[in-house]
Amino acid sequence: MTPSTPSKVSQSPLAIDVMSGLKQDPKSLPSKYFYDAKGDRLFQEIMHMPEYYLTNAEYEIMDTHQKTILDTIGRDTFDLVELGAGDGYKTKVLLRYLVEKGIDVRYCPVDISKSVLLELENSLKADLPDLAFHCLQGDYFDMLGELTYRSETPKVILFMGANIGNMPKKEAETFLARIRETMSPRDYLIVGFDLKKDPEVILRAYDDPAGKTAAFNLNLLTRLNRELGANFELDAFRHWETYDPMTGATRSYLVSKRNQTVTFEALKWSVHFAAWEAINVELSQKYSIDDIHELAGTAGLTPIRHLHDKRKYFVDTIFKKKE
Ligand code: AVJ
Repeated sequence: MTPSTPSKVSQSPLAIDVMSGLKQDPKSLPSKYFYDAKGDRLFQEIMHMPEYYLTNAEYEIMDTHQKTILDTIGRDTFDLVELGAGDGYKTKVLLRYLVEKGIDVRYCPVDISKSVLLELENSLKADLPDLAFHCLQGDYFDMLGELTYRSETPKVILFMGANIGNMPKKEAETFLARIRETMSPRDYLIVGFDLKKDPEVILRAYDDPAGKTAAFNLNLLTRLNRELGANFELDAFRHWETYDPMTGATRSYLVSKRNQTVTFEALKWSVHFAAWEAINVELSQKYSIDDIHELAGTAGLTPIRHLHDKRKYFVDTIFKKKE
């Protein structure tokens, strides 16, 4: 891609975030930029690896606890609002059950990406022709606000896939508190958390033998080369994963193998890396049930129920607004 004009590229959110992250000490890059076309494909592959237990665990939860979810909600008319819908693989299990039970449910997937929603729309029409749905493209909170303002229908909000793990704990608190503001006392929120477990199991999920996660992380540099005219040499960086069992923080780094300078042609800017200097590229926070209760408390939510897979690797927690 040829950037239209240098000034435009340098003012893009990507350019601003990348420059501010690489000017910091220690350096960091936001993991949300992993997901370009190639990144989306690599993430799909990661979700299908046996080592990446998260997807299967949450699928199992949706498959085995459908009735509990419906009984907890205790209604036969509601909007099921999903934040960051993705391909809907896990949600469809629940949706199919609700349709079969004759529940008057409207599925409202919210996503920032138009192409994700288009693909989801096509697969919903094919797989669940009787399901009512309404796709919302945009910011989570804008869309939640709009739904709350426009309709009286009770809401069940879904935030699955351990996406909350990408936020530092303080940020997760603010995020949940903002969701709470859009909830009425009869609404529910269901959040998927990856749980603290054997460190070896966690590390293998993020440092897989096939090197898919490494490729997924390094692809960020390829994206910066393409979109910001940078000259990262992929061989000159390596992926490194850590898990801290004290805090539950699982972190991905890209480590510079040598002393080097990388130039961003489109930004008229360059950045220096010392030998073995690291860039923090992702946090995947792991929680204990106590951690979840603490988080809920500060966000003004009450955990009603914890739904587990058999191995207790993962939990989907159902929350209500704290009275
Ligand atoms: C999509 C954010 C839940 O952190 O586990 C997978 C992304 N990163 N492998 C996660 C990811 C490396 C994933 N989330």
